[in-house]
Amino acid sequence: MRNWLNGVALLGAALTITASGAQAATISISCGAVGLELQLCQEGAEAWAEATGNQVNVISTPNSATERLALYQQILAANSADIDVFQIDVIWPGILANHFIDLTEHVDQDAIDQHFEAIVQNNTVDDRLVAMPWFTDAGILYYRTDLLEKYGKEPPTTWQELTEVAREIQEGERAEGNDRMLGFVFQAKAYEGLTCDALEWIDSFGGGTIVDGEGAITINNENAVEALELAASWIGDIAPEGVLNYAEEESRGVFQSGNAVFMRNWPYAWALGNAPDSPITGKIGVSQLPKGGEDGKPTGVLGGWQLAVSKYSQNAELAVDLVRHLTSPDEQKRRAIEGSYNPTIAALYQDEEVLEATPFFGELYDTFTNAVARPSRVTGEKYNQVSSEFFNAVHSVLSDKTDAASSLEALEGRLDRLSRGGRW
Ligand code: GLC
Repeated sequence: MRNWLNGVALLGAALTITASGAQAATISISCGAVGLELQLCQEGAEAWAEATGNQVNVISTPNSATERLALYQQILAANSADIDVFQIDVIWPGILANHFIDLTEHVDQDAIDQHFEAIVQNNTVDDRLVAMPWFTDAGILYYRTDLLEKYGKEPPTTWQELTEVAREIQEGERAEGNDRMLGFVFQAKAYEGLTCDALEWIDSFGGGTIVDGEGAITINNENAVEALELAASWIGDIAPEGVLNYAEEESRGVFQSGNAVFMRNWPYAWALGNAPDSPITGKIGVSQLPKGGEDGKPTGVLGGWQLAVSKYSQNAELAVDLVRHLTSPDEQKRRAIEGSYNPTIAALYQDEEVLEATPFFGELYDTFTNAVARPSRVTGEKYNQVSSEFFNAVHSVLSDKTDAASSLEALEGRLDRLSRGGRW
């Protein structure tokens, strides 16, 4: 009897041993589902599972970064082991650091050093590397090359010029029968995406980044007011009222169906817009975002996603191995070519196949490496509250509930109370 029991136990154990001799397991990974994200994550994770004899469970999460964070906070606050690997936003290391393991103890220094140093720094909290860089982003301007050519226009270099060109082409196309044509689409729903868009407008007018690098609250200034007044004027003119409820995918839907002249979005929209079944394939141009007037500068906000391993994971070593695979040069190259997701490895910006698929990775290299960060480092754990206050204040200006000057003044007061005496 005893032998028989031992035999069963041994058999059970044998079934969970992989080729390399390690225990096989199912690793759960949470992935975004914007554009091709989920498909690419699934393919990458399954390739790892097959090669290592393990299994993966890919969990799709809400598209809105704001909702995704709320979900993660619930799961992590419960110390749940349900998700081993978390896809986290570039603005979250300070908020979630305590729930993740220190990857410097598990990943070779060489593998870490191949990534952009600024992102590694961003993901390092109290000397702990809490996430590996996976892909980076910056806000960019998409335009219709065929329409600009038809109307004899160059891509606009200032927001004021964009406003004029968008209006002229919108009116011209509507007069010719496409009454659905829109001048400009972007992200103006009250969520993290609006923080990105509005910070781009404001910083490009010289109005700063809400809270500066030293922690001073800078948002209540004339340049910021001017930027928001111009943006508010777009609603109902070159942008539809509906934009107040647009995130990335709603904007892409309109642009990709052929009904917008300009779009502000992240690089992922390139691969989908140029897919063979896209109505605007081959008619898309990309440039840096416009400046806030001749004295302004173009600002693209830094975005991007990292992979972190939960400290509640029961298979942390395997989870790290999956992260190592997904963040590797080969996998980042595949994702760049198939989905126009920016690598976090500088060398891939010189790779011929990557540049052939997505030429603007080379042309706009400086836009990506000089992208402007949201104030997440300096506000740390409170970043999400700062951002929520900001996007709500901006949303109320865009929806004509408050004027820009009073909204920013009130915002300054709220941020002041959130901080310790006006500083972080
Ligand atoms: C993109 C960016 C991310 C940002 C989000 C806002 O996913 O990569 O950093 O927070 O958009 O919608």
